Amino acid sequence: MAQEKRQIVQYLADYRPYPFILSETRLDFTLVPDATRVKAILSFAPRDSGQSQDLVLDGGEEVKLISLTIDGHEPDPAHVTRQDETLTIAATALPDAPFTVETEVEINPMANTTFEGLYMSGGMFCTQCEAQGFRHITFYPDRPDVMTTFRVGIHSDQNVLLSNGNLIGQKECGTEWYDPWPKPSYLFALVAGNLVAISDSFTTLSGRKVDLNVWVRPGDEDRADFAMESLIRSMKWDEEAYGREYDLEVFNIVAVDDFNMGAMENKGLNIFNSKLVLASPETATDGDYERIEGVIGHEYFHNWTGNRITCRDWFQLCLKEGLTVFRDQQFTSDMRSAPVKRIMDVQTLRARQFREDAGPLAHPPRPDHYEEINNFYTATVYEKGAEVIGMLKRLIGDDSYRQALDLYFDRHDGDAATIEDWLNVFQDATGRDLTQFKHWYTDAGTPHLNMVEEWSETTAGGTLTLTFTQNTPPTPGQPDKPARVIPIAVGLIGPNGDEVLPTQILEMTQASQGFSFEGLGARPVVSALRDFSAPVILTRNIDDDTRAFLLANDPNPFARWEAGRELAIAALVALSQGQPGGDSYVKAIGQLIADDDADPAFRALCLNLPGDEEIATRLSTLGIEPDPDAIYQARQDLARRIAETHQDLLARIYDSMQVSGAYSPDAEPSAKRALRIAALSLLNRIDGGERAEILFGTATNMTERMAALTCLIRRGRGQTALQILLEQFGDNRLVMDKWFSVQPMAAPPESAVATARELAQRSDFDWKNPNRYRALIGGLSANHAAFHARDGSGYNFVAEWIMKMDPVNPQIAARMSSVFETWPRYDTVRRAKALVALEQIAAVAGLSRNTREMVSRMIA
Ligand code: ARG
Ligand code: ZN
Repeated sequence: MAQEKRQIVQYLADYRPYPFILSETRLDFTLVPDATRVKAILSFAPRDSGQSQDLVLDGGEEVKLISLTIDGHEPDPAHVTRQDETLTIAATALPDAPFTVETEVEINPMANTTFEGLYMSGGMFCTQCEAQGFRHITFYPDRPDVMTTFRVGIHSDQNVLLSNGNLIGQKECGTEWYDPWPKPSYLFALVAGNLVAISDSFTTLSGRKVDLNVWVRPGDEDRADFAMESLIRSMKWDEEAYGREYDLEVFNIVAVDDFNMGAMENKGLNIFNSKLVLASPETATDGDYERIEGVIGHEYFHNWTGNRITCRDWFQLCLKEGLTVFRDQQFTSDMRSAPVKRIMDVQTLRARQFREDAGPLAHPPRPDHYEEINNFYTATVYEKGAEVIGMLKRLIGDDSYRQALDLYFDRHDGDAATIEDWLNVFQDATGRDLTQFKHWYTDAGTPHLNMVEEWSETTAGGTLTLTFTQNTPPTPGQPDKPARVIPIAVGLIGPNGDEVLPTQILEMTQASQGFSFEGLGARPVVSALRDFSAPVILTRNIDDDTRAFLLANDPNPFARWEAGRELAIAALVALSQGQPGGDSYVKAIGQLIADDDADPAFRALCLNLPGDEEIATRLSTLGIEPDPDAIYQARQDLARRIAETHQDLLARIYDSMQVSGAYSPDAEPSAKRALRIAALSLLNRIDGGERAEILFGTATNMTERMAALTCLIRRGRGQTALQILLEQFGDNRLVMDKWFSVQPMAAPPESAVATARELAQRSDFDWKNPNRYRALIGGLSANHAAFHARDGSGYNFVAEWIMKMDPVNPQIAARMSSVFETWPRYDTVRRAKALVALEQIAAVAGLSRNTREMVSRMIA
């Protein structure tokens, strides 16, 4: 008889509530690096009396069961089955009344290289349980809809012992924690290490004092202040913007060096990748500071959107992630510049999510099946999940949004909720039918939206009719897509540059739909999709002069930037195909950067050319096979032309945007640095690298030093600077990560793979560390023309490292494999090479479920 293997594909439609209620979890840890003991006491009750259901607990194959009792008695071994990743106690062995299951298990954190469950990082114990790491700690119903209070004892000789909730007991070599808020296992956390804290406190709106600690390794304490300030700003912001208060006596943040993702919102004990906590002007860039503030906010905001209200099952992941990303974007907009934040978010969305949506890995924000949930922590779930909420807010207005959110917190506090629950809240709060809107959650793919203008004049004035047509290309498993609700923000600008109609939200619900504006004087210029009011690809018949007009006159900063971007992309698309282009862009950009009254951040954004990847994506949207070498060349040529044409202007900007005085990561000085760096990287193409050389030697902050280093590497003269950085920061892991990533990323395409191979040989290429691995392998993949080298050398290098990482850390290997997701859009030679690389990965014996799922979706 063949053993029945665990079901491989999980389906949303198969959801069933857990047949038992778990009323309390007690855990007791005795931490030993290679033999940690975990005792668990779980208090269960049957969900329905008279039910006869087996008790199925999840537990990784490596979890060693030492003992098991039910109500204090050992069950008959015939009633206990250990199979794959579960432990099943037969219904016959269970009373039809509340009962306790007591287990003791042994695990080996030191041997755990997956950084999931309980593992060790630099001598300290720490955990990562989302999504299904808890089952590698002990046997448990490891699913988000099973929620209970946790009481946790920790025994260890490490000096700091932390878990969720409030500290309720402390003795030598031991602490005890109690978390009164029922939570699922994925929010459990434990940390034990030799740590020091930066401490502060926060008094909530209702006057409760909360102790705040940021725990770091000794020696790192002078780089944790910004994280603490960011936490305090986050707590205050969530009270003001959403009326949400913190709910425990203490909030702990811990920085760890080995971490698969950015950070984790464990209740009262957030664990962070150290690169999202530690910052000093000498070691971190403006971008790092901004990300730290954003992610500290993100994890903190999860306390309400994720923890107090969690997800019923993992298909609902975007319920917490989309909303929390949306909230952290609002937070950053409020702390910094809203238009700049919007432009940057749209850039990320297009670079990561549109790319995902257009390829073999496309899936809806709420998928209905998966094999490995860790493969669904994607740009679609996070970033598109946030966009969908932005649309909802745009459609109903700010006040209704706030009312709906109040209702959501009120109605679902303590629940494990679904996307249906979320949409019902909006329906009930506004009276709107959201049936059609729901397609944004259930359908994959980016809608293509076309706009056609029609102008007619009578004696009563002019009428402008805008006809929009929408169409969403097929995605895996979803050939046909119904029309979606699309909020289209439109404004009209008169020929003299004055706005004749301020922003209106057109609500499109049909496949094709017209909107008319009557009584107009002269034919206006249409500013469409302001603020990127919907995540769609807009096409319209528009010439360069009109784009330049919008770039000069549109009062909506996003739309202005977009007009400039479109000019640049049109130029690059033409140039990469050997056609003339770029004159209008070069001219328009000259006017824009000469305007000293304009916001430096905005000017910097306009000066940065679209990347190779973005150009490739555009070409492929237009049905053209992108040629990475031609794209690279086109971009180089256009940048050089801008530099030559505007040499004096750029030099003036470079000199005048120097920021004096002590370093501050605030929006204003960062913007000046960004503009200065944008000017530098253009001037670098014609000054032989002279300015970069001087800047590298004189700059006192990492923002400018990294920019200078990048320029020097581009000029083929980075060696001295790299050596200086190595000597100065060889023992600083975060700086060395930058050192490893900038080289393959900025190297000319023809030498980048060789550079990466050489770096991979170094003894300080500690590849099992996710940051270091991503720095080098991800760095090479981000060099578009190098990764897509025609000879397949880029594909082979990355594939080798995916295969090497897979048995050690499947999550990281699987995640890296998505760099291949665009392979179908290239020419036959490249496609063939990419396919060979992917098939080689697929053929590995014992390949992880994570990587297997990714690769098979990509070659399906
Ligand atoms: N919930 C975390 C966050 O977005 C991400 C954790 C993801 N972890 C994972 N293993 N997939 O803040
Ligand atoms: Zn999150």
